[in-house]
Amino acid sequence: MYVKHQMNRNLGLSLVRVTENAAIACAKWMGRGDKDAADQSAVNGMRLMFDTIEIDGEVVIGEGEKDEAPMLYIGERIGKAGIAAPQVDIAVDPLDGTTSTAKGIGNAISVIAVAPRGQLFRTKVFYMEKIAVGPEAKGAIDLNKPLKQNLISVAEATGKRIEELTVSMLERDRHNDLIKECRELGCRIKLFRDGDVGGAIATCMEESGVDVMTGIGGAPEGVLAAAAIKCLGGEMQGRLYAKTEEEKLLKEKQPDMFERILTLDDLVQGDAALFVATGVTDGDMLRGVRYLPNNVVKTHSVVMRSETGTIRFVEALHHMDRKPAYAQVSK
Ligand code: FBP
Repeated sequence: MYVKHQMNRNLGLSLVRVTENAAIACAKWMGRGDKDAADQSAVNGMRLMFDTIEIDGEVVIGEGEKDEAPMLYIGERIGKAGIAAPQVDIAVDPLDGTTSTAKGIGNAISVIAVAPRGQLFRTKVFYMEKIAVGPEAKGAIDLNKPLKQNLISVAEATGKRIEELTVSMLERDRHNDLIKECRELGCRIKLFRDGDVGGAIATCMEESGVDVMTGIGGAPEGVLAAAAIKCLGGEMQGRLYAKTEEEKLLKEKQPDMFERILTLDDLVQGDAALFVATGVTDGDMLRGVRYLPNNVVKTHSVVMRSETGTIRFVEALHHMDRKPAYAQVSK
């Protein structure tokens, strides 16, 4: 109760500084062909700003293990933990869309989700099978069933004809069978190059025109998307997918871990999650970072709270000359 109370309205607005700083730090790499530099800048910008936020945070979804990621690694304790600071789990993707940013393609965002300690799903597995829908199709999906059957249920729930349904997924060869199923059924398909956090969220935004997002994407991105979908009242299911040899061996030893359907409540427990994202390049939900005269930078972000379902879009003008040192990340 206390933690939930502490996950208050102000925390969401503090956290937006974190994704803003990451987005500002990496946006200058747009189109410059260096995805690692873009990602590193986002990590630096995000990590520095976290130090100013009054939370006792543990990264549960992050940049990888400690030995492969010097910052924002899984298990890292972050935040300015004071005596009254809420103990929280943190999921981060400083830059979802590293390749998109490097190529100057849209839909790259900087994103975090925060929930009381122990409430975000923890995994080190790389990929997850996913299906996400908006509020009207809540209760109509089951990842254990073939896609066709799910699409028929979604059409019924939303009162649409099959040919009016739009299914989106990452443009990947591994999705050829799913694409075939959709085409046989006759629904519309929207493929996207990168960024399935935003792709999943689009199902809950009427103006996106997307009814279902499915396919295999990053497992960390699955947890982040689940936090947003919880705030937006939609539904999502996931199932861990073994790709590497190491993961395949793990699956042989622990088949349940990879067969289990992860519901929205498994991915994000309770109703006190916060989801925050800032656009890096222009996207369907958020505009990318803009550079204005006189060293002013404009950002566009969204802050969501699952407790109330409030969705706030925040447009900010940053006078870079007047920012404190921790916000002056150059690389
Ligand atoms: P990165 O920015 O970390 O590269 O992730 C982009 C992304 O498109 C995610 O949104 C998605 O979940 C994942 O990559 C899919 O992985 P892959 O590119 O290996 O298919």
